[in-house]
Amino acid sequence: MTFGRDFVWGVSTASYQIEGAAAEDGRRPSIWDTFAHTPGRVARGETGDVACDHYHRYVEDCDLMHQLGIGAYRFSTSWSRILPDGTGAANAKGLEFYDRLVDALLERGIAPWLCFYHWDLPQAIQDRGGWANRDCAAWYADYAALVGRHFADRIGHFVTFNEPNVFILAGHVVGIHAPGIADLSTGLRAAHSVNLAHGAAVEALRAVAPDAKLGVVVNQAPTRAATNSTDDQAAATLLDALWNRAFADPMILGRYPEALHPMFAPFIDEGDLARIAQPTDFLGINHYAPQYVRSNPAIPGGVGRAHPPAGAERTMMGWEVAPEVFRDTLVAEHARYGLPVFVTENGMASEDAVAPDGTVHDAQRISYLDRYIAAAGEARAAGADVRGYFVWTLMDNFEWAEGYHPRFGLVHTDYATLKRTPKSSFEWYRQKIVAER
Ligand code: FCB
Repeated sequence: MTFGRDFVWGVSTASYQIEGAAAEDGRRPSIWDTFAHTPGRVARGETGDVACDHYHRYVEDCDLMHQLGIGAYRFSTSWSRILPDGTGAANAKGLEFYDRLVDALLERGIAPWLCFYHWDLPQAIQDRGGWANRDCAAWYADYAALVGRHFADRIGHFVTFNEPNVFILAGHVVGIHAPGIADLSTGLRAAHSVNLAHGAAVEALRAVAPDAKLGVVVNQAPTRAATNSTDDQAAATLLDALWNRAFADPMILGRYPEALHPMFAPFIDEGDLARIAQPTDFLGINHYAPQYVRSNPAIPGGVGRAHPPAGAERTMMGWEVAPEVFRDTLVAEHARYGLPVFVTENGMASEDAVAPDGTVHDAQRISYLDRYIAAAGEARAAGADVRGYFVWTLMDNFEWAEGYHPRFGLVHTDYATLKRTPKSSFEWYRQKIVAER
């Protein structure tokens, strides 16, 4: 037993990736509805209109989680279901869906971990400038406080944002995610609003949910230059600062990394950094792989992607399998930020299919999870205060611009029938949890 009885074992999902029911019960479009319905944005023109139809099948999904034996489930609420126009009066039907979900989890002994924002900004707010508009911070804090107040009696862990680095860089600097903006200056402005939004929300949540534990989830990926050239090295240094530090540093340490000062200076008002750096209770880390960088002047910011070194073990996403990097990341991030760490996402995609005998054998995932969970144990042994691990993800779902092709789930989703089939890794993870308890 490496982890101990108090260690939290879970799975994570996100609203737009699983819920479907895009136009039901008063929900209005988010930026991901708009983006997915714009031709050429998502592979094969796929959208989250139906996704896993979790909105109607959440009881079955909660039963699966109960069978899996997890202690916690991290999900996100859809802002556009709860406040269809982004601000104003709450949509009772939207809140009622999450009431039903949270109650179903609690009845099964699973602790709900609620994330307010997993990338699906209401389109009505984007129409008012979205994150590039500083006012968005206050609109977000109002929304988070509304949801926090509503669930404070039943939920003990709230997450302000999932991966601000990804939705800002992919969505606002490079433009391959919603809202599809490719502009460095807009991205930096939007990043600062998100940092302000985090601080404002934490402050508001302390008042309405005083007993809850609060934290942010960041995607941490050690960043390496593809070659020794000065340009590639400079691109890697810049991406490291933007990706790994531009959110966690101000939120937790109260400052932007030195290398980014000149870039952020135009957007920072007096008192902003103090407002951003509200004390929080934990740090959520999503980690998949190290990332490789090549200078590319055609991309805003000049930071292009490169492949892992030849011969590296990879998943179908092209992501390197390197559990020792995961161990080192957990140790380093815990040392830098000093907060209890929860691994809020880790996992891998493969092209899983249902075999004629009805089973789904995902041996590569079992091998991946086995090695990555062991690496989390090594990080603990090395002194990192890692208190939980959530697999990404419960079931195959809408993988953003990649659509439905990459399958990250412990459960296989048949998108034609919406039938769920637990994969071999589901049974493996179930036994792992039992063995560690
Ligand atoms: C993370 C996202 C999550 C999922 C995984 C594969 O960056 O938070 O929604 O797409 O990657």
